Amino acid sequence: MSFPVHRMRRVRSTEALRSLVRETRLAPSQFILPLFVCPGEGVRKEIGSMPGNFQLSIDELVKECAEVKSLGIGGIILFGIPEVKDEMASGAYAESGIVQRALQALRAEVSGLLLITDVCNCEYTSHGHCGYVRGNEVDNDITLEWLAKSAVSHARAGADIVAPSDMMDGRVGAIRKALDEAGFPSTPILSYAAKYASVFYGPFREAAESAPQFGDRRSYQMDPSNAREALREIELDIAEGADMIMVKPAMPYLDIVRQARERFDLPLAAYQVSGEFSMIVAAAQNGWLDRNRAVLESLTAIRRAGADFTLTYFAKEAARLLA
Ligand code: PBG
Repeated sequence: MSFPVHRMRRVRSTEALRSLVRETRLAPSQFILPLFVCPGEGVRKEIGSMPGNFQLSIDELVKECAEVKSLGIGGIILFGIPEVKDEMASGAYAESGIVQRALQALRAEVSGLLLITDVCNCEYTSHGHCGYVRGNEVDNDITLEWLAKSAVSHARAGADIVAPSDMMDGRVGAIRKALDEAGFPSTPILSYAAKYASVFYGPFREAAESAPQFGDRRSYQMDPSNAREALREIELDIAEGADMIMVKPAMPYLDIVRQARERFDLPLAAYQVSGEFSMIVAAAQNGWLDRNRAVLESLTAIRRAGADFTLTYFAKEAARLLA
């Protein structure tokens, strides 16, 4: 039986009805805000390609996090811009590295906000690649040692969750083992399990000063053409001990989010990356899109596809819109 017995519009006619039958809802606690911490004091340097996002010195970061917390946002993910970069990414795992010092300050000043750290080397290497470069190749297994040391140093400095984003093989297992041996068996790993070699990271590389100086990341990040391979990546990370998994980017990869949701029962995150953010901001600045609606619709779509939580540069803005 069909029309006129069934009229889909019946339950769309008022906001009260629409709200009653709404399948997907957003809450600030499902957002994670990416933040960039840099050396210095009183530094709040806007990132040209990501309007409204800043490189923050630790004192400014502490203030920012207090505000983030007051908006009910779930947590932050920290990226560091070190004083110096070198071939060994030593700033990534130094006990007094920029992220480690930021964590100590945040631990002391802000509570109840989840502190997640991005575990990667590209912000810390002089060449901008995510690991140890031998010839023109990124060496997988030496890079694992750096990642493991970084994750332990983050946990020691107060990270609640560590999130490896490098796409080396075996990193989750290496990090799990190192955390356990260092006395952090309860620190969860949020794995950037299916991370694609995406053009949409462009604005982030200005923010984190991490663009590769030669070549690209296609020998470690995934080919945008592949979906089944993403499921294998996720499966392997789970086998190695991932507690939560992530798909990145989000909007161009909602099919992957959906497939991951259906196949795996772990908490699932999606990362609405810098290019996704900047596209909406640029279109809104031109008067081509309604910014508020674009923000909420994009975040709703990501959640509808199956993400439990979303890493998004719109976290503060969306939390205010939902209030
Ligand atoms: C580090 C890392 C990147 C992003 C998150 N972690 C950059 C990259 O892989 O080049 C991108 C985030 C964004 O674009 O918002 N490896």
